[in-house]
Amino acid sequence: DFHLALSCGSTPEPLYRRLMYDPNFRDLPWKRVQLWIVDERCVPLDDPHSNFKMIRETIVDHSDIPREQVHPILATQAGADLAYERQLQETLAWREKGHDRLDYVLLGMGADGHTASLFPGSPALAESDRLVVSNSGPTVTPPDRITMTYRLLNASRFIAVMVTGQSKRATIARVARPGGNPADLPILGIRPAGGELRWYLDGEACP
Ligand code: 6PG
Repeated sequence: DFHLALSCGSTPEPLYRRLMYDPNFRDLPWKRVQLWIVDERCVPLDDPHSNFKMIRETIVDHSDIPREQVHPILATQAGADLAYERQLQETLAWREKGHDRLDYVLLGMGADGHTASLFPGSPALAESDRLVVSNSGPTVTPPDRITMTYRLLNASRFIAVMVTGQSKRATIARVARPGGNPADLPILGIRPAGGELRWYLDGEACP
C-alpha cells in the first residue's frame, strides 16, 4: 500500500488532471493507494472551495481507487481534526513497525510562505504533539482550516513542494535567502526527519 497526501489550491490541479489523462501516468496503481488530504477548508464537501471536491473530481471519480481508501476531512463537523488524526493513526498502525508514516506528500506554497494550512505566526506552527489541528489564516478564503502539522508532515518518506508562477517569485527568493524563520515563512519548517525533500519550481517562480 502507498499512503499519498495531496494539497490543493490552483498549482497542482493540472498535475492531477494529467495523472488521469496522460497514458504515461494512467497506470499509477490507484488500487494500492490510501489517499489523504493535507489540509481542508471548513466548508461542506460539495462547496466550490472544498479541497476534497477538487481531488474527487480530478482523481477519485476517474481512477479505480477503492472508496474506503479515500480519506476526506469532514471539516465542518465538530472535532474534525481529532477524527482525522485518529483515522490516520488507525490506518497507519496496520503498517509494519517503523513504516507508520505517509509515503508521499505533495505541498504547495502560498505567496505569504504558508504551506498546508500552516500560516505565518499561527498557533499550529508550535504544535509538536498533534498530527492534525484546526487553524486559521487571515489572508485566505475561507480562513478556517483543518491541517496536517509539521510533526506528521516531517515524518513522511518523501515531500514534494511544487511552486509555479510569477506571483510566487518574491517568496521563493525570501525562502532561498539564508536565515529565514518558519514563523514568518512556514514552508521553512518543512524538514523531513528521515525522508527526502524535493522542490519542483518553474522558471517563472525561480528564474
Ligand atoms: C489550500 C492548500 C494550500 C496551497 C497554497 C498554494 O488549501 O489552499 O492546500 O496550502 O497549497 O495555498 O495555493 P495555490 O496553488 O492556489 O497558490
